Amino acid sequence: MGDINKVKRRIEELRGLINYHNHRYYVLDSPEISDAAYDELMKELRQLEAEHPELVTPDSPTQRIGAPPVEAFGVAEHPQPLLSLANAFSYEELAAWHKRVNNLLGGRQFDLVCEPKIDGLAVALTYIDGSLVTGATRGDGYRGEDITQNLKTVKSIPLSVSREAPPRFEVRGEVYLPKAGFKKLNEERAKEGLPLFANPRNAAAGSVRQLDSSITVRRPLDIFIYGLGWAAGKPVPDTHWKVMQYLKAIGFKINPNIALCYSLDETEKYYQRLEETRESFPYEADGVVVKVNSIALQQELGTVAHEPRWAIAYKFPAIQGTTKLIDIGINVGRTGSLNPYAILEPVRVGGVVISSAALHNEEDIHRKDIRIGDWVVVQRAGEVIPEIVEPIVSRRTGKEKIFSMPSRCPVCGSEVIKPEGEAMHRCTNTACPSQALERIKHFVSRGAMDIDGVGEKLCWALFEAGLVKDAADLYRLTREQLLGLERMADKSASNVLNSIERSKNRSLAQVIFALGITHAGEQYAELLTDRFSSIDELAKASEEDLSNIKSIGPKIAQSIVAFFRQKENKQLIKKLQKALKEPEREKAKEAQPEELPLAGREFVFTGKLESLSRSEAEAKIKALGGKAGSDVTKKTSYVVVGTDPGSKLAKAQKLGTKTINEAEFLDLLNKAV
Ligand code: IVH
Repeated sequence: MGDINKVKRRIEELRGLINYHNHRYYVLDSPEISDAAYDELMKELRQLEAEHPELVTPDSPTQRIGAPPVEAFGVAEHPQPLLSLANAFSYEELAAWHKRVNNLLGGRQFDLVCEPKIDGLAVALTYIDGSLVTGATRGDGYRGEDITQNLKTVKSIPLSVSREAPPRFEVRGEVYLPKAGFKKLNEERAKEGLPLFANPRNAAAGSVRQLDSSITVRRPLDIFIYGLGWAAGKPVPDTHWKVMQYLKAIGFKINPNIALCYSLDETEKYYQRLEETRESFPYEADGVVVKVNSIALQQELGTVAHEPRWAIAYKFPAIQGTTKLIDIGINVGRTGSLNPYAILEPVRVGGVVISSAALHNEEDIHRKDIRIGDWVVVQRAGEVIPEIVEPIVSRRTGKEKIFSMPSRCPVCGSEVIKPEGEAMHRCTNTACPSQALERIKHFVSRGAMDIDGVGEKLCWALFEAGLVKDAADLYRLTREQLLGLERMADKSASNVLNSIERSKNRSLAQVIFALGITHAGEQYAELLTDRFSSIDELAKASEEDLSNIKSIGPKIAQSIVAFFRQKENKQLIKKLQKALKEPEREKAKEAQPEELPLAGREFVFTGKLESLSRSEAEAKIKALGGKAGSDVTKKTSYVVVGTDPGSKLAKAQKLGTKTINEAEFLDLLNKAV
């Protein structure tokens, strides 16, 4: 009995610690402990919970992942309706709204709060006695879908909050996919031949409305809380501004760009400033939400037709332009998919010249009724690939042509098919030169074998010259062959050969992903290495073996089995096995770390790096056996100082830790490899 109480106490302590560190990491962006130390805490908690399943609670941090798939979403009633917002598309419209509010309040003074309007999906989160109990979509405003399981996978949504919080309350916010996550997701989907998401909003909505929360967990979703729906059992602050600070204090992530404005003029300045800087935000914002600060005045102003009178969405002008669709081109992808794209008369949209746009597949082109020769509205948003919004039907001359996919591959002339249930048309010839080239490009790409210095252009040149017909040929390249290529100097040739050599040590997951099996993206490759410890083992797996792995559906299982059955692929794998350093030996992660050049050395970063992202730098360190820490301690070997360093630099100086700049850091990495 005493023992179980001890376990219970330790579990509670671990949950408290993990919640605290989650908050520091995901909400405050300011972790205190290293990832490894965090993993240790999670590991211990998982273990204790596995030994004592009766002690597992729904708000335990372990419950963010691996929730069982739900059959369909239940209904969640909203005790207070979730409203939408009226829009203002110009300063005049904003000023008219402000005047209306002023009149309704009979000239009484009122302040405004301005926040970015996040382009995502509205959710309501209900907490009872400090724990998240329901997460729901907006639905029709009164009844939404219960997506609690999926929202629990969003790391910046606290599963439990401070004891200071009211016993029962509901917060509202916008779940979104950051621009970088969106870009990566679409790149992966493109590689897998899946239809792309048109914008981060759709991608976020698609991600949280997944019936299988193990898919949601792999999407890097985030949230900004923008208000309190209702609260009971404890008084809450009386202005929106104070409510937001209060929500922040009890554990929620609120947008750092929130501002208190005392006049219409200040609001306009805020809007202008945000408009100018919004491209640099990691998320998509489509306007500014302006809200009356006083909650009492909000209540007095009330709502009309599902829209509050006390708030307005002051929208940014869309980054759109019009141009002519000259033609529709087709790229043949790695898996044979025929990817149509728009060839446009170049047009400047929001400071960038656009001459092509994504056209996802034939169905999409017909659904939007886009015809060759049409005048079209094009749109770009942040990092997103430009897209065609719609054709301008009124400008048609009658000479426009309806597009249809060719029945023969534009590259090799082989038959084109459209598999049942798929959106994409495919070339049936696996030896199609375009497919072969795309497979090589995929093989060298980041996330796959990550062969630095072998980019798309070089792949093309090597393929054209007949030096590299498949990925394994890369490992047979000689210096002489490389030097025979145009614009290839001695130094570049050495770099290329070194990069290729280094790639021989890639992890099993990377090798599997690099093979380019249809539908088996990066995440699936990772999953497969949990079950199979070599390529040969994976090659022997049956559809049934594969389908038994959680998250691997019949489509992927079939595709993997089909891949390993093909003669060309068998040959490629044989060649690769000879070239690579026993790729299936073991996962690189499990190589003896003390044998690696940076073993025992810990790096901490402060400030921004110019030539690579922090996560890339950390990955490089880890690959060489080193560690990346989040805080400067006595164990830190180097503090890498980028531009605009933070307080870690002072701490390093205080502790006498060695500091190096980015160039020195890169040099150190180069010497280590
Ligand atoms: S306040 C009654 N604040 O925009 C006011 N909404 O077009 C409720 N949105 O459904 C909304 N960012 O999903 C508010 N900072 C923000 C927002 C925001 C995005 C969304 C929200 C709402 C939609 C209305």
